[in-house]
Amino acid sequence: MKILTIMGTPHKGNTRAIVDLFLKEFENDNNEFDEIVLPIDFNKPCMGCANCILNGEDKCPHYNDINPMVEKIEKADLIILGTPVFVGSCTGSLKLFLDHLAYMWLVHRPKESMFNKVGLIVTSAGGSGVKQTTKLLKNNLFYWGVPQIFNYGVTTMKMGGNYSEYKDKDKIIKQVKKKAKEVSKALEKRKVGFKTKFFFNIFKMTQKNGWNKTDVDYWKSKEWLNGKRPF
Ligand SMILES: Cc1cc2nc3c(=O)[nH]c(=O)nc-3n(C[C@H](O)[C@H](O)[C@H](O)COP(=O)(O)O)c2cc1C
Repeated sequence: MKILTIMGTPHKGNTRAIVDLFLKEFENDNNEFDEIVLPIDFNKPCMGCANCILNGEDKCPHYNDINPMVEKIEKADLIILGTPVFVGSCTGSLKLFLDHLAYMWLVHRPKESMFNKVGLIVTSAGGSGVKQTTKLLKNNLFYWGVPQIFNYGVTTMKMGGNYSEYKDKDKIIKQVKKKAKEVSKALEKRKVGFKTKFFFNIFKMTQKNGWNKTDVDYWKSKEWLNGKRPF
């Protein structure tokens, strides 16, 4: 199985340490690991031209930089998004990465491979913000088409250092082990739930009277408007 970690920070602090705890749980002979570290591997802000949505993702001015990242995402069975909470949200580095993937939301041109993946969101905050950051990232994975999404967030009440120095570190390790088991189970038995099917059908109806030719042509080419489904 292929596990791709997308880190919203290059900082080797709380988030990195907790992501590493998860990766340790997933270590076995069958698993391969890959990583995108932001902003090192991608650092361009979306210019707002909407070319990706309207004219095709290859018309994005940053296509040559973002497309190798999309290829990594497509290959992965499990996508881990890791980010600290910065001013109540994910890091800016992660947000600008996600902005470049708007074209592959369910409402536009979802990639077939997404419906067979599992997602895991790992967040850490000093005080508050885990809930809203998790919600934002869950939303992104869901609208990419990822049907099963897990999350784990830690509120450290401390800035700097990493979780291993905290008094509740044993609790964190135990919780991570439990969550990693749930993720592994989902990877073994992948399924597409009602919510994904429901939204796919809603967007199928909108594509039947679609306003964006690039999207409509895509749905037609996949035969999704004729009853075929990507799951
Ligand atoms: C620029 C910046 C903004 C932050 N904003 C928040 C915030 O809005 N809410 C919060 O609870 N913690 C905030 N923090 C604290 C971090 O989320 C927290 O320390 C986190 O565990 C850091 O993760 P890291 O060690 O992986 O970098 C902020 C830290 C930084 C550097």
